[in-house]
Amino acid sequence: MTTLAARLQEAAAFLHKRCKTRARVGIVLGTGLGALGKEVQAEARVPFAQIPHMAGATVQSHSGEFVAGTLGGTPVFVLEGRLHYYEGHRLDDIVFPVRLLKALGCDTLVLSNAAGGLNPGFSLGDLMLIDDHINLPGLCGVNPLVGPNDEAMGPRFPDMSAPYDRELKAAAHAAAKAGGLNLREGVYVMVTGPNLETRAEYRMLRNLGADVVGMSTVPEVIAARHVGMRVVAFSIVTDLCIPEALEEASLDRIIATAAAAEPKLTGVVKRLVGGLGR
Ligand code: HPA
Repeated sequence: MTTLAARLQEAAAFLHKRCKTRARVGIVLGTGLGALGKEVQAEARVPFAQIPHMAGATVQSHSGEFVAGTLGGTPVFVLEGRLHYYEGHRLDDIVFPVRLLKALGCDTLVLSNAAGGLNPGFSLGDLMLIDDHINLPGLCGVNPLVGPNDEAMGPRFPDMSAPYDRELKAAAHAAAKAGGLNLREGVYVMVTGPNLETRAEYRMLRNLGADVVGMSTVPEVIAARHVGMRVVAFSIVTDLCIPEALEEASLDRIIATAAAAEPKLTGVVKRLVGGLGR
């Protein structure tokens, strides 16, 4: 059994050999949000399946590719597609790509996801900057940091008083303003899925203080904070989760809404990341 540190080193050495890019910014793209990857001036594309120790992405809307290149002039590594808990992946496999970005030299992580809107003031296709999160599965025992801790990677009890970097949040707002885009801000709650929630569950999640709900992102944020990366994350509101007016969920509609709203996300992230290279 090799150690996690050794597996990360092996994967990072493999990718360093496959591409010349040296990036400090890593980007993880969520469901239906792969178009940002096409904005990258790519130097190399590597299918996840070829990367040592990386479990392959399986969900239909996730292509599963590592892209190295520049975005808005800034060197980036982009993970197009991610692993989800509902697919049956282990949490340490889910957060392996984030730890790999750190091993590759990234100190900044940009995440995106599709999420259900719980805040009644939100509309379909809205873009929301994540200010804070509720790790609902984590509170019940599903947490990527459960198990032995490698002190060389990060502390046993990482701080979560401000998981989303204040400076990056301000820069994201500035980028949205410069692009004339309305950027909301709020709390993301993670559920495991894969079923969507009942009306009673949406009511409960709203009462817990969440503005949007989704099935990803939080494990990656925790792993990134554990290794000391700065994090900024965006949700696209792909369905409205108002208990009194709940419509039957359609994955096709969720993906179509994500695709329609994607230019907003792409615009903000490109500006934001472009500014980080200066
Ligand atoms: N619930 C959970 N995850 C989601 C939703 C939702 O309504 N929409 C998109 N991802």
